[in-house]
Amino acid sequence: GKGGYDHYMLKEIREQPTALRQCLRGRIDELDGTVALEDIADLDHSGPVQFVACGTSYHAALFGAERLRAAGVSAQAFLASEYTRERVPVDSDTLVVGVTQSGETADTLRALRAADGAGATTLAVTNTVASSAARECDHALYIRAGPEIGVAATKTFASQQLALALLAFELGGEATRAELEAIRDVPGHVQTVLETTTATEIAEAYVDADAYFFVGRGYHYPVALEGALKMKEITYKHAEGFAAGELKHGPLALVSENTPVFAVVTGDDEAARKTIGNVKEVEARDAPVVAITDGVSDVARYADHVLEIPAVDDLGASVLANVQLQLVAYRVANQLGRSIDKPRHLAKSVTVE
Ligand code: F6R
Repeated sequence: GKGGYDHYMLKEIREQPTALRQCLRGRIDELDGTVALEDIADLDHSGPVQFVACGTSYHAALFGAERLRAAGVSAQAFLASEYTRERVPVDSDTLVVGVTQSGETADTLRALRAADGAGATTLAVTNTVASSAARECDHALYIRAGPEIGVAATKTFASQQLALALLAFELGGEATRAELEAIRDVPGHVQTVLETTTATEIAEAYVDADAYFFVGRGYHYPVALEGALKMKEITYKHAEGFAAGELKHGPLALVSENTPVFAVVTGDDEAARKTIGNVKEVEARDAPVVAITDGVSDVARYADHVLEIPAVDDLGASVLANVQLQLVAYRVANQLGRSIDKPRHLAKSVTVE
């Protein structure tokens, strides 16, 4: 059942600390400074990596590709429905990773079969043991989030993020102790976010907005896309995510005093400073700004509201920021009285191409 919650979605958002601990269990040895993924112990790969996925899982794939590139691995993410082996350079050196919660998404299965046909090694990153993706791929890495009932993916996205972060250690360089500790601490920080969030207030302030925009850079770019997807699918309102640097190349024409812009800004590095520059451009056009931030930079000075997260590295911060955006989408949808667990026109598992 819903365990006392009004919706499975809220239950599953709140389950994230547990889901993430399950995902990490037995996979990190902090004393040794190593990551051990038993599921894929026999995967020995050193070539390029291509991700294929749909929807929320595609956003996790974008995050995974960014993380792999940071580890020195050549990696790209493709929408599974756009992936054809004729047009991508795939051969027996390539590892093609299907990211799929259900393991049954037709577009993703078709892309994986195409990759297999071209001689690539295939890996399913999935929540579903013995799913089609897990059975058909050469390897399977389980995210162990537990069953997800709400149509909108929440805890499985966070678990995909951490599973892919672990995969990067397997395929890229060795982990440092600091990196491992940072990952180990993510579930506890998610708990802090759940206990301290002011998402309800933000939702009340902006429930009547014309549209919602989301921006971020680096690891926060897929989070901006995911924030927008969650918002549109459960509120039925217009929401879009952009790479922060792209605002000035067109989307800025859309902003007004009725379009809040959610900006994910953490740390105080060049990426954060550039996103703050983009926030100032938005503010100058009278759009309300909601900063999702750790308070390390001075982005709050340019924001109308702040959703605070603990100060951690940018990878962990993207998990935490996403939890805040899940909660905002949930609260807006709830105030609008939407059918949150079963949004109109959508299915949990999409088994047609
Ligand atoms: C959005 C959502 C969908 C799925 C997509 C892929 O909340 O749930 O976008 O992420 O249909 O599904 P899986 O991960 O099962 O392949």
